Amino acid sequence: MQTVTDAAALRAAIRAWKRDGQTVCFVPTLGNLHAGHYSLVDLAHKHADRVVVSVFVNPTQFAAGEDFEKYPRTLAADSAGLAEHGCDLLFAPDVEVIYPFGPRQSISIHVPQISATLEGAHRPGHFDGVATVVAKLLTLVAPDLAVFGQKDFQQLLVIKRLVRDLSLPVEILSGATVRDEDGLALSSRNQYLSAGEREIAPQIHATLQWMREAVLDGHRREVVESVAARRLVRAGFEPDYCVIRRSEDLSEPQDGERAGLIALVAARLGNTRLIDNLSFD
Ligand code: PAJ
Repeated sequence: MQTVTDAAALRAAIRAWKRDGQTVCFVPTLGNLHAGHYSLVDLAHKHADRVVVSVFVNPTQFAAGEDFEKYPRTLAADSAGLAEHGCDLLFAPDVEVIYPFGPRQSISIHVPQISATLEGAHRPGHFDGVATVVAKLLTLVAPDLAVFGQKDFQQLLVIKRLVRDLSLPVEILSGATVRDEDGLALSSRNQYLSAGEREIAPQIHATLQWMREAVLDGHRREVVESVAARRLVRAGFEPDYCVIRRSEDLSEPQDGERAGLIALVAARLGNTRLIDNLSFD
């Protein structure tokens, strides 16, 4: 596996593959990689000859007071894990490579509508930072395909719209959420949980499953949402949202609508904010 930190070396490596007629699939990450990330690398291998992974803690998607400074940076371990998973190229740029004028003086890309609700409402500016860095990374890497996880379902929708609206010549693939045995979705943030919180955390997945069953059993959506939110509060969470939406665009379904739905939860447990979702189809 090759590791590059600047744009010229990245382009040279990718140009050589493309000259040979090889296809490239790209997996962007913030690093501190776990089995969820590696499952996306494995998926990428099934769809392309070469796999490129970026590790970049993107400052513009963290708001003041969020965990940008203390976000775990574990490049040596990430690099070893990626090599084991057959990654061909690791792109690990410094902030100046991605933001030559500095993060505050950067171009900013806003994807309207889909960015406004749920995560966007609770983390203002977050999806602008995500859309901006993903547009920059896709421009630098110029892959044939790119992979994103369903764990961050709204992010996946934002990126699909970004790619379509900018006519970027890349196909977006999505990978299923990898979970621990007790249902907790793998996340770099899980390591912030205390032992007691870690025991409570799988209640998010259990609640999502309950929401799906309750709606498919014919219970009214609003009722299911409020019962589920109360269940999370009783377990010790402070939910930001606990809702059922259309998976196409996260709009609110009509009464009686059953197809194409998804339940989404974001909840704080102590100082840790966890998100998860479950598709009904
Ligand atoms: P990060 O949180 O590192 O996630 C990188 C990719 O891994 C995302 O597409 C995310 O959805 C996926 N992922 C995370 N946990 C997963 C799990 N348990 N199972 C499967 N996939 C999982 O998401 C970001 O980074 C950033 O916002 C980024 C897109 C890199 C832009 O900075």
